[in-house]
This record gives sequence, C-alpha cells and structure tokens, in this order.
Amino acid sequence: MTIRAVVKGVGHYLPDRVVPNSEFEATLETSDEWIRSRSGIERRHFAAEGQTTSDLASRAARAALADAGMVADDLDAIIVATSTADMTFPSAATMVQAAIGMTRGFAFDVQAVCAGFVFGLANANALIVSGQAKRVMVIGAETFSRIMDWTDRGTCVLFGDGAGALILEAGVGDGSTADRGILSTDLHSDGRFRDILYVDGGVATQNTGYLRMQGKEVFRHAVEKLAETAHTALAKVGLESADVDWIVPHQANLRIIKATAQKMGLGMDHVVLTVQDHGNTSAASIPLALSVGKQRGQIKTGDLLVTEAIGGGLAWGSVVLRW
Ligand code: UT7
Repeated sequence: MTIRAVVKGVGHYLPDRVVPNSEFEATLETSDEWIRSRSGIERRHFAAEGQTTSDLASRAARAALADAGMVADDLDAIIVATSTADMTFPSAATMVQAAIGMTRGFAFDVQAVCAGFVFGLANANALIVSGQAKRVMVIGAETFSRIMDWTDRGTCVLFGDGAGALILEAGVGDGSTADRGILSTDLHSDGRFRDILYVDGGVATQNTGYLRMQGKEVFRHAVEKLAETAHTALAKVGLESADVDWIVPHQANLRIIKATAQKMGLGMDHVVLTVQDHGNTSAASIPLALSVGKQRGQIKTGDLLVTEAIGGGLAWGSVVLRW
C-alpha cells in the first residue's frame, strides 16, 4: 500500500483585460512580429486596477473546489506559489484561506518564482505522503504586471497575470507507476545565478522594484536544465520520455518549450501550450496550462504528465504525475 497525492480538481482564473502584442507598439520600439517570433506570445491578461494576486488566486481556488465537488473546509492546507503576494506579509495563502471561507487547517506561500508551482506540488506531496494532510490545494498565482518596467522592451512584453489551482487528496496506490497521483519530484536551485533574473526591490530597498532579466542567459540555462530535470524525475521511477502523454511546461517561451520537447524526443502534439494566450505568468503558468489542457480535452484521467519549470534563483525542477 502506497499513499499517493491524487488530483481531485483543477481550476483557473484569468483577468478580463486581454492585451495583444500590438498594444506595445504605441509606447515601445517593438512589434507584434518580434514578440511572436522570439517568444511565441500573442496576447496576455492584465489584472484590473486594485485586483491583487490573492483575488486571482481565490477565484482559481473556487473553480478548483467546484471541479472537485468540495467546500473550503474540506481542505487541510493551501499552498500558494507566488512572487507577487499582495503584501510583504501575511502570505497570499492566508488571504485566500479567508476569502474562500476556510476556517480550519493551515496556509502558506512558497517562493520559487517561475518554478514555484513545481516546488508547491513537491511540498503538497510531502505533506500528504507523510500523513500531515489529506487534502491540499496548490495554487500558482501572479500579478507580474505590477513589477514590470514599462520602458524595458526586453521584459515587459513577455509577462502576464493569472492564477491556477489544483486540489490533491491522499489516495491508496500499489506503489507502481500505474498509480494515479504524484509519482516523483526533482527540485534544484543554484543561488550563484541570482543576478540573471531578479527584482531590484524589496524589504532591503523599501520599494517593490522591477523585474530585471538577462534573457539570453536565462534562455541558455532553461534549454540546458529543463529536459534534464524532466528526464531525472522520470528515471527516478523507471519511466522514460516515451511513456509521457503530456509535457505541461512552464510557459515562458515557445522556443524553450520546443527545444525541451525535442531533447526529450517528443513531438509538440505531446505538449500543452498556452504561452500564446497567457504570456509568461510565472508560478501560475503550469496550473493554468493544466486547467486549460483539461478543458480542451487534452489531459484525461490516467494520462502520464511531466511538468517542468525554471525561474529566478535560479530555481528549477519537475514533477511526474499520473492524472
Ligand atoms: O520565466 C522565467 C524564465 N524566463 C525565461 O525563460 C525567458 C528566457 N529568455 C527568453 O525568452 C529570450 O531570451 C527573450 C524572449 C527574452 C529574448 O529573445 P532573444 O532571442 O534572446 O533576444 P535578445 O535578448 O538576444 O535580443 C535580440 C535583439 C536585441 O537587439 P540587438 O542587440 O540585437 O540590436 C534586443 O535589444 O532584440 C532586441 N529586443 C527587442 N526588439 C523588439 C529585445 N526586446 C525586444 C522587443 N522588441 N520587445
């Protein structure tokens, strides 16, 4: 008998305002053609004035609860993966807890930037497998539009806002890779690379700051590390790329996604792709893709999924999951 963290529900929320690439042409020396060809992004959503990360997260949370047929107090824990929490503290997770009417259990944030949802899943899996929680909701939610330097064309055209949520519940498997649920995780970070992707503000500077990125450097690390971590996570449980139904990658750049799939020996027909519609939503991008992938009818019960992500830190990793 093996305890597994099994998916019970998924949901997402995207703010109403859709911004096409062409909108940037008025204020920046850029073009729809450049943004599409270099990143694969066509449009993104931006939160309305006053709409916060915990607002987006709470909407995604309610959608996931509805999908699971659960109420808030059925949950033991909420983990929010975010780098754009509403405030320095308390956590976005406790704000979501209050907003959805959950009066028991515990809630906390995980900060691993674009890899945050993968780190959140690994934490939820550990809580469930160790018996500390039976039902955990993992949310990825971001309002990166709040940390954009709108004069920096190398970054501000790439990011978007949104939230996705996944509910995991303890289930019993036979310990084989035929089990539903999280089958393996693989996490990494290397703080020596902190300067290639960071926000130049925070408590130390007493202002929020703006995202700064050496795009080419991050790109190089992404292409090198993502296929490797996916491969490692699969190998830990004796699986290989050929067993994978869907890669659900962090949606930062279509060229990175294609290169990673190619390295894994899988065609783009095995990739859930949302980058064109959402842009890079950091920790929200994987749960958004999971929710949209299910809605589209791509992801089905029993499918083998591998998620992989890399972001500021650098922090990166992957999770193998049977849906
Ligand atoms: O989610 C966290 C992980 N983040 C990522 O994975 C992002 C990784 N990096 C990337 O996705 C890509 O590096 C970018 C999309 C950011 C940039 O693509 P690139 O092919 O690496 O372009 P580049 O930075 O080398 O820039 C090429 C040229 C430069 O001009 P020069 O120096 O060749 O004259 C840039 O100044 O494109 C210029 N450029 C732009 N031109 C038009 C940069 N941004 C823009 C823009 N519009 N928005």
